[in-house]
Amino acid sequence: MPVQFICNRIIHMDITSYIEDNRKKIDGFLKKYISAKKRNNDCPKELAEAMSYALMAGGKRVRPILAIASYEAVGGRSKGILNVASALELIHTYSLVHDDLPAMDDDDLRRNKPTTHRVFGEATAILAGDALLTDAFHIISTSDGDPKKLITVIEELSHACGPEGMVGGQEVDILLEGKKGSKKDVLYIHTHKTGAFIRGAVRVGALMGGASRKRLDALTEYGEKTGLAFQVIDDILDITGTKAEIGKSTGADAAKGKNTYPSAFGLEKSREIADNLIKEAVHALADFNKNADPLREIARYILSRRN
Ligand code: IPE
Ligand code: IPE
Ligand code: MG
Ligand code: MG
Ligand code: MG
Repeated sequence: MPVQFICNRIIHMDITSYIEDNRKKIDGFLKKYISAKKRNNDCPKELAEAMSYALMAGGKRVRPILAIASYEAVGGRSKGILNVASALELIHTYSLVHDDLPAMDDDDLRRNKPTTHRVFGEATAILAGDALLTDAFHIISTSDGDPKKLITVIEELSHACGPEGMVGGQEVDILLEGKKGSKKDVLYIHTHKTGAFIRGAVRVGALMGGASRKRLDALTEYGEKTGLAFQVIDDILDITGTKAEIGKSTGADAAKGKNTYPSAFGLEKSREIADNLIKEAVHALADFNKNADPLREIARYILSRRN
């Protein structure tokens, strides 16, 4: 085996194909889920169409991929993880559909396409979000696997995405829009609206994989740092214009008077903060073997992503 190949495998695994392969598996699950929804006569057609539109619009699937990678990092081996991981994308999609509503960020475009409420109207968009959130918990509770683990996963996610997590962060994001929040406020917003769910996704994978307490703690730290870095980078991309390429106007969040890392710390410092968070996230995995390479590489990908 050529040395170069060995080096690539050990030091820089092929993260692009890892992400691509897992994205395909997740998309396969979501396609089946959504076609069953469209065939179900008890689900109104318009609602199923709106759910499908929002869910199949080309998201990166970062949270499910993180859950799978975390599961593999602790040596998890069973099929149950795909259902649970894919359910995370339903929760994520609901959060974006609601985030874009006129009462919240009032965005017309997401991923270069009209937002769900622009196509289906506000009422159907709100209900499509509600439906995706509710179905996520249905998918998890009916997945194969140890019922005790599934209950723990439900407990984890309802906390991560509820009022003490994502929903709490969204509330403060909206309450402080147009007002100058403190650095502490911005930290609260980011660790809650985005960080809590990403940390939750990593923990869900670890819990499904039967992680020891020590490993769960290390992965929790990884998830916390990566989750905060993810939103800091989102803020940076909002300003540096990369999001404009996918149909969001440059500085959209900044123009709304959102409390962002660049508004609180400046662009350069925000980049430095994100860099350090990713270093700390990778460091948290120091005791893991090569099974955690995908997690290490995903953290680096989050830092260098362009959308
Ligand atoms: C966007 O999340 C919203 C944030 C929490 C920053 P993603 O960047 O994961 O969205 P998609 O699904 O890949 O478009
Ligand atoms: C969204 O944050 C966070 C959640 C949906 C929970 P943003 O409002 O910054 O995300 P974008 O910029 O619209 O993707
Ligand atoms: Mg928002
Ligand atoms: Mg938004
Ligand atoms: Mg944003």
